[in-house]
Amino acid sequence: MPGIADPTLAPEGRRRIDWARQHMPVLHRLLEERLQDGVLRGRRVAVVVHLEAKTACLVLALRAAGADVVAAGSNPRSTQDAVCAALVEQGVEVHARHGVPPDEFTADLLAVAESGAELVIDDGAELTRRMAQHRPDLYDRLAGVSEETTTGVARLRALEQEGLLTFPAIAANDARCKHMFDNPYGTGQTTLTALLALTNVLAAGREFCVVGYGWVGKGVARAAAGLGGRVTVVEVDPVRALTAHMDGFRVAALADALPSADVVITATGLTKAISADAFDLLKDGVLLANAGHHDREIDVPALAEIADEIVDARANVKTYLLGGRRVHVLVDGALVNIAGLDGNPIEIMDLSFSVQALSIHHLAAGGAPAGVNRFPDELDDLIARTKLRTLGIELDRPNAEQLAFRSSWTV
Ligand SMILES: NC(=O)c1ccc[n+]([C@@H]2O[C@H](COP(=O)([O-])OP(=O)(O)OC[C@H]3O[C@@H](n4cnc5c(N)ncnc54)[C@H](O)[C@@H]3O)[C@@H](O)[C@H]2O)c1
Repeated sequence: MPGIADPTLAPEGRRRIDWARQHMPVLHRLLEERLQDGVLRGRRVAVVVHLEAKTACLVLALRAAGADVVAAGSNPRSTQDAVCAALVEQGVEVHARHGVPPDEFTADLLAVAESGAELVIDDGAELTRRMAQHRPDLYDRLAGVSEETTTGVARLRALEQEGLLTFPAIAANDARCKHMFDNPYGTGQTTLTALLALTNVLAAGREFCVVGYGWVGKGVARAAAGLGGRVTVVEVDPVRALTAHMDGFRVAALADALPSADVVITATGLTKAISADAFDLLKDGVLLANAGHHDREIDVPALAEIADEIVDARANVKTYLLGGRRVHVLVDGALVNIAGLDGNPIEIMDLSFSVQALSIHHLAAGGAPAGVNRFPDELDDLIARTKLRTLGIELDRPNAEQLAFRSSWTV
């Protein structure tokens, strides 16, 4: 039954939200200076993003801008029931419960879709794709979707290619103020923080294998190396593999990297990066963790099938016994930083959610064509300038002579 798990958890949720709000100056400055101009007043906005304290700040900021917000989580494992309770206490409609099975998760999302959502902030296209599957009729009501992450943008483009994207969408993930900070700095730091907190092991001197050297993988590799880890990168894109080499990492094929890896972290955004044929190559005691959007990068069901026994080793760590070897899987292969800990750092989500808030404001204003749109450059600049201002940093601007030189071929 859609709704929340336990309203009595509201005081704890309020504490978490208050803490996050203190570290989100950019979103709140943009709320005062841009978002409260009336464009969002009375608009029904659905926020379907990992439902923890930072997301709650986004929800409350949109509401302060006049929107009528309904919220759900983008992964039941990352939903924090206390935060849901605090939002409900403040009058927000929420359909999210921690740890529910897939059918109940879908029911929660469909409850959001059926509640009259016209603008959607989505993560992994979890709501948008379910609407296509279960309630395509509700697409008529959509004035726009703003998508948070790499995997979701790929899904929106796939919908577009099939002619199903009948409304404007914005690839918020592709905004410079999102993917250049959230994916490498935020996810890099917090993937390592979560992995170390969940296991209580030392990073220094450990052999890390990072699978996928995109924006996230790059950050994860840098964070692991920064803590003294020895990093091998596995990539299928030759240019990115070469970048990893130039960045100073060992680059190898998966089959060459796995036998010596103490820790394997996936960040491909695709499925089965570690699949059944890789299990024989895993070293005894290896830690497997995932930083990508969904829970399918490590084929945990296939691992369970061949395991002699599965043991709860620690909170959020399961050990799969394979003959004489132990394979430890963190958070059942869900994104380790969000499902295993508190997700990306607050200041990073201040930038990412500023992108989302301005993106939904832009969509609400109308004028964007159907299909996947870029996040406007001037809004990216506005967010970066606002962030710099909160840091007390003012920028120089090119003078008239420099501007003339830039636009001329004669001088
Ligand atoms: N955990 C978080 O907080 C968080 C934050 C941002 C993004 N994400 C998610 O992380 C994932 C990666 O995001 P990104 O921005 O780095 O994407 P990206 O597309 O920039 O990078 C993915 C990389 O993986 C490589 N790859 C694909 N399949 C591979 C395979 N089998 N073996 C080796 N390499 C392979 C690709 O060539 C690419 O370079 C996505 O699912 C994204 O949604 C998670």
